[in-house]
Amino acid sequence: MNTLHDPKYLRLKCIIYQLLACIFILVIIVLLETSVICYGALVPAPAGPGHTPASQVSHTEGYWQPPSEATIPAGESGALVTYGRELISHTARYLGPQGSVAQISNGMNCQNCHLASGTLPFGNNYSAVAATYPRFRARSGTEETIVKRVSDCFERSLNGTAPDASSREMHAIRAYIEWLGSNVKPGQKPAGSGLNKPALLAREADSAKGNIIYERSCRSCHGKDGEGLMAADGLEYAYPPLWGPNSYNDAAGLYRISNFAGFVRNNMPLGATHDAPQLTPEEAWDVAAFVNSMPRPHKDQSADWQDIRTKPTDYPFGPYADGFSEKQHKLGPFGPIEAAQ
Ligand code: HEC
Ligand code: HEC
Repeated sequence: MNTLHDPKYLRLKCIIYQLLACIFILVIIVLLETSVICYGALVPAPAGPGHTPASQVSHTEGYWQPPSEATIPAGESGALVTYGRELISHTARYLGPQGSVAQISNGMNCQNCHLASGTLPFGNNYSAVAATYPRFRARSGTEETIVKRVSDCFERSLNGTAPDASSREMHAIRAYIEWLGSNVKPGQKPAGSGLNKPALLAREADSAKGNIIYERSCRSCHGKDGEGLMAADGLEYAYPPLWGPNSYNDAAGLYRISNFAGFVRNNMPLGATHDAPQLTPEEAWDVAAFVNSMPRPHKDQSADWQDIRTKPTDYPFGPYADGFSEKQHKLGPFGPIEAAQ
C-alpha cells in the first residue's frame, strides 16, 4: 500500500493540521489582545517625556541647525546654557506643580510646544530669538527683551508665574536661547523659524469636523478629555494636555487658531513633519477650531493690544478696528478680513 494512504500517516497528518490550526488561533488571540491593550492605553509607542522622535529630527536639511555642542563654553557660562536646555526640556521637573525649585507652572514643558528643545524646523524653534530681541511687540505695545518674552510663555502657555528675572533659572533659559541663536546674524529669521501656517480656508473653520479628526488622530495620545497623560515619574507629561485646567490659557499663542493650525500641520500627530505632514490644511484648521472651543483657564488680557488696529486677524477677543464679528475673527474666513485691511 502507498504510505501516503496508510491510516497511521493520515492520522499523523490530521494531528499536524490540528496543531497548526491551534497555533494559528493562538497567534490571532495574541495579536488581538495586544492591539486591544495598545488601543486602550497608547496606540503608538510612547515617546516618553521630552523626546521628539528621531523621525522628526532628520527633516532638517536646508534649514537652520543649532550650533554644535562643542561651542558651549566651559565654566559657569556653559553650565548655565546646559541648565537652560534642561529647563526647556523638562520644565515641570523644576518648576511644575511638584517642581524641585519652585511650583509656578502647569506641568507642561516648554519643549512640548518648542520641539526638540526649540531646535526643530517649523517646530516653533528658538533660532530667531537671539537675533531679533529686544524688539517691539504690538501685543504689549513695548520693546520686549528675551526675558519678557519667556515670561509671557510662563504666564500664558504654562498658565503660571515666571521665575524672577534675577533667578538662576531665568538667566539659564536666556543663556540657552542666546547660545542657540549664536550662529544667526542680527535681525535674521533663519529658514525653519516660525510656524509655517497653512493656506487660509475660504470658509469658517468647523469644530464639528475638528472633533472627528481629534477622535481619529489625536485622542489616542492626548486623551478622551484632552487631559494628556502623565509620564511614569508623575512629574511631567508623556503626552501633554490640549485643554482643561492643566493646559495653556486663553491668552496663549496657541489659542489663536492660525498658530495652532500651523504647529499641528507641521508636527502632529507625533511623527508628522513639515515636509511630510499628515493632516491636510483643512484638517489642521478644523482640529484647531475644535481644540480651542474646549474649556481652558482664562487670563485677564485687557492690557493686550492696546492699539486695536494692530490685533492679528485671528485674535479672538474684540473690540476690533474693523466691522467683522468676534466669531469671524476667531474662526474665519480670514480672507475678507485681510482684504479689508
Ligand atoms: C502651549 C505651547 C507653548 C508652551 C508650553 C511654551 N510656548 Fe513659547 N511660544 C508658543 C507659541 C505658539 C509661540 C509663538 C507665539 C506667537 O507668535 O504669537 C511662542 C513663542 C515663544 C518665544 C518667542 C519666539 C520668537 O521667535 O519670537 C519664546 C522665547 C518662547 N516662546 C519661550 C518659551 C519658554 C521659555 C517656554 C517654557 C517656559 C515656552 N515658550 C513654553 C507656545 C508655547
Ligand atoms: C503619538 C502620540 C500623539 C498623537 C497621536 C498626537 N500628539 Fe500632539 N503631542 C504629542 C507629544 C508627545 C507632544 C509633546 C512633544 C514633545 O514634548 O516633544 C505633543 C504636543 C502637542 C501640542 C503642543 C503641546 C500642547 O499640549 O498644547 C499640540 C497643540 C498637539 N500635540 C496637538 C495634537 C493634535 C491636534 C493631534 C491630532 C491631530 C495630536 N497632537 C496628535 C503626542 C501626540
